[in-house]
Amino acid sequence: MSEEKPVIRFFKGSKPIGIAAVVPEAPLLEMAEIAGVEIPTNCTSGTCGTCLVTLLEGEVELPEVLPPGLDDELVQLGGMLTCCIKPKGSCDIDVIPPAW
Ligand code: FES
Repeated sequence: MSEEKPVIRFFKGSKPIGIAAVVPEAPLLEMAEIAGVEIPTNCTSGTCGTCLVTLLEGEVELPEVLPPGLDDELVQLGGMLTCCIKPKGSCDIDVIPPAW
């Protein structure tokens, strides 16, 4: 039985723009870099919200206490900070942040 390796697929809207294998214990931003997908960053520590994207599919490791750059409303809309949030497996990510 072959198990498929988890991958992160990046989209801009509906257009696929890159794909990378999941790097264990690494935040999504690292996989974006491997995929050649540019995501703007500033603090890289979950504070500023610059690296906000939308999680379309899949699960991520949300910290118990949300980082300052994220709130419950954004999470409901699929909002995800790529600099500090790790995927739990395969995910589809839209680099466009959720509209709210
Ligand atoms: S770069 Fe500031 S929250 Fe991610």
